Amino acid sequence: MTDPQRAIDARGRRPATERDERIAEHSAGEKQEGIPFIGAGPGDPGLLTVTGKELVEEADLVVHAGSLVNSDLLERYCADAEQVTSIGKDLEELVPLIRDAYEEGRTVVRLHSGDPAIYGAAVEQMDALEHEGVPTYIVPGVTSAFAASASLRTQLTLNGVANHVAFTRPQGKTLDPEDDHIGEFVEMGDVTTCIYLGTHAIPETMDRLLAEDHDPDTPVTVVYHASWPDEDIIEGTIETIGERVEAAGYRASAMVIIGDAARKAGYDRSYLYDGWANRSSGEADD
Ligand SMILES: C[S@@+](CC[C@H](N)C(=O)[O-])C[C@H]1O[C@@H](n2cnc3c(N)ncnc32)[C@H](O)[C@@H]1O
Repeated sequence: MTDPQRAIDARGRRPATERDERIAEHSAGEKQEGIPFIGAGPGDPGLLTVTGKELVEEADLVVHAGSLVNSDLLERYCADAEQVTSIGKDLEELVPLIRDAYEEGRTVVRLHSGDPAIYGAAVEQMDALEHEGVPTYIVPGVTSAFAASASLRTQLTLNGVANHVAFTRPQGKTLDPEDDHIGEFVEMGDVTTCIYLGTHAIPETMDRLLAEDHDPDTPVTVVYHASWPDEDIIEGTIETIGERVEAAGYRASAMVIIGDAARKAGYDRSYLYDGWANRSSGEADD
């Protein structure tokens, strides 16, 4: 009988120093056995990787992340496959569904939105499947923060403006207030803070930043449905963005970016195209 929790608990009991024995099983570029956990990208079907597209095209069963995966992508690459949404299914339902299809010899893919590595909850499914003897692997995708950055025609790190990027989420049902670090990232000044899973909570998040005395004029940019045909960009500040997003009516599917990098304001020329490569040893930027 399937018990995903046992697989998760077993993984949790292993010391962090113990390496996952599957890590060196394959060399880069080699074809892998098992269920691919594929990053579908942010929405635009063209942003699925070449490998992801080939795997989805071959699939008999596509288990996907519901409305976060563009239906055009499913239509374009796997119209003939059985398509099942993972929304509303718990691990106890998902794992046997995928395992049974795999054991029947069907070609199954698991399609996550963006990249599975970011708020994807992929690892628990993979561990549970591996526990049942079903091999799995990850095919990365384009995370929505990168799509939002491209839509804004900017970089998330920008010389003289932002040296770091934080992928984060606000406190709520699944994150305790003491684990919400948005204020700390903003306080650092040279961090571009990308907030996932926070569209519904923008006014509260901004109110907290105001209560913590952050500069109310700090730029905040919200990219709704980055790379989708109905993409929308709303610009404001810590003080104004809450009202603007509420007026637009967005409650989900947006990337909230705090910081000057989203506006490309005040950046400096980088060393990279300034003779740097010829005069110092170190890691080249690209
Ligand atoms: C469950 S998380 C999954 C993130 C996904 N794994 C990724 O890498 O983008 C869902 C959140 O990602 C963000 N998101 C996903 N797709 C988006 C898009 N096309 N535009 C803006 N934000 C998006 C939203 O903040 C949404 O609440």
